[in-house]
Amino acid sequence: MSDTLLVDEHVSYVKDLFRHPAFLIHFMADHLKMNALYWGLGTLFLTNHQDEFQRDEVVKFVISCIDEINGGFGAAPGHDAHMLSTLSAIQVLKMYNALEELSPKQRESVIEFVKSMQLPDGSFQGDKFGEVDTRFVYNAIQVLSILDALTPEIVDPAVNWILRCQNFDGCFGMIPGAESHAAQAFTCIGVLAITNKLDALPNKELLEWWLSDRQIQGGGLNGRPEKLPDVCYSWWVLSSLAMLGKLHYIDGKALEKFILSCQDPLKGGISDRAGKEADIYHTFFGITGLSLLGYEGLDRIDPVYCLPLSITSTIKKYPY
Ligand code: FPP
Ligand code: ZN
Repeated sequence: MSDTLLVDEHVSYVKDLFRHPAFLIHFMADHLKMNALYWGLGTLFLTNHQDEFQRDEVVKFVISCIDEINGGFGAAPGHDAHMLSTLSAIQVLKMYNALEELSPKQRESVIEFVKSMQLPDGSFQGDKFGEVDTRFVYNAIQVLSILDALTPEIVDPAVNWILRCQNFDGCFGMIPGAESHAAQAFTCIGVLAITNKLDALPNKELLEWWLSDRQIQGGGLNGRPEKLPDVCYSWWVLSSLAMLGKLHYIDGKALEKFILSCQDPLKGGISDRAGKEADIYHTFFGITGLSLLGYEGLDRIDPVYCLPLSITSTIKKYPY
């Protein structure tokens, strides 16, 4: 077990996954490709190895995933647009400072796709098939924020709906009345942070305690009471606490040790728990967690946008 971050091994792990010119063809279901690209590139940016990918090739791939009929981005070329892949695509373009490479018509079609997903109650669906979840509100608000397209007509009903998702225990569920879950804390607090509405959040103290209770023996964080720890909650919980200014409610050294114990020292990558198979999702969120903890040598991450702070510093603050 290593007690330091195995940067070279993780960079090799990411590069191996993406080695095929058509990206990921050999390892992962099509519907996750765009998300995986964001997790992979994010890992390279945070470890200052972004030059390991061919920028122009990646940008071309992302733009080839635009859904010409609905606007927005699919997860792979020829796929229908979805909110999850649309956010990842915009995040990848933002990291590469490549938003200008979208034509004005393409940029407008992304904005129109996202706006068209908002329902009369303020929530957002993920695609035209209608699943609703706090994740899609976060996706929408971050995309529109990066594209300077937030307006009170979109923000106010979205924020009201998000506030309805808060439970008696202070945390949030996927929809109003659903069980509290740490990942939903991130999406809901993230929406409030981007829209500059954190002051409107009731029961803040209760939420902060609920989040800090996620650290269990061994240092790892879980997503709900009585669950096992999982590396990805190092991000969902810690970023939520960071947005609330309460990062210090977690024992950072103990969490760091837990994350480092989940590394694969041979093939690289990080798994959800020690000894399990590594994947790109847990690799990225392990490293984002370490970045929030101030781990030496990593670029600092923005807890609101889950992008390097050096990149989000150019995003206009709402209200404009
Ligand atoms: C739990 O995953 C995670 C979520 C429900 C939140 C996902 C949030 C987004 C997709 C918004 C965009 C996020 C970023 C960082 C830009 P899971 O269901 O796999 O968790 P589990 O394995 O614990 O059930
Ligand atoms: Zn996980």
